[in-house]
Amino acid sequence: MTLSKRLERVATHVPTGARLADIGSDHGYLPVALVQRGAIAAAVAGELALTPLRSAERNVRDNGLEQWITVRLANGLAAIQPADGITAISICGMGGETIRDILENGKPHLSGHERLILQPNRGEQPLRQWLMENDYRILSEDVLRENRFDYEIITAERSGPVTYSAEELYFGPLLMPARCPAFLAKWQRMLLQKRRTLSRFSQAQQAVPEDKLQEVIQHISWIEKLLG
Ligand SMILES: C[S@@+](CC[C@H](N)C(=O)[O-])C[C@H]1O[C@@H](n2cnc3c(N)ncnc32)[C@H](O)[C@@H]1O
Repeated sequence: MTLSKRLERVATHVPTGARLADIGSDHGYLPVALVQRGAIAAAVAGELALTPLRSAERNVRDNGLEQWITVRLANGLAAIQPADGITAISICGMGGETIRDILENGKPHLSGHERLILQPNRGEQPLRQWLMENDYRILSEDVLRENRFDYEIITAERSGPVTYSAEELYFGPLLMPARCPAFLAKWQRMLLQKRRTLSRFSQAQQAVPEDKLQEVIQHISWIEKLLG
């Protein structure tokens, strides 16, 4: 199973030997690849929609992995059952707010001992905010670019109260000091985008809500400071 660069990077963050719940698994590529490589012990592939569910079932069957991967039709973390003994949860390829909502609505299904491997397509800030408010410490952060999109991968574990500043929630508490080239390139692009948004706001026919305007100004100032 060949994974995209994005999922391949996600795969490197899944602990060896994990019992993985891949929520919103779509085609099930991630659990199939990880089981095939002997990198994880077992997996649950959870899907909300029937067409991707069938695709995951077909991939598991075609690769003869029914013994190791259970495909379930379920909303979010409801795919996890206590008997699964899940030790890691991946939620990838969705907006950060969607991932946050899946975690919030699925709290009864969390034991609190699972490693979370989250790959938001955007909306990292509200996702980090949820992690902080729910006592999850961010263990690693990664950023990569594929097909002209920047993707972040955040891993976290519940560890007790943790505090991140507003800027850390925005940029990532570990990415910010590390300043890797992919991270700096992402924020150079974001700065151009934000400046364009601000200039659109100033030309808009209707008044832009003050809080929206101030938010963009704040973000531009943070990014300029970050990039020096
Ligand atoms: C864009 S795909 C990402 C697939 C895969 N995780 C990846 O990263 O390539 C998002 C998938 O999440 C599923 N999904 C969205 N909300 C969900 C939820 N609440 N519970 C389970 N699956 C969900 C969608 O049906 C879709 O198949």
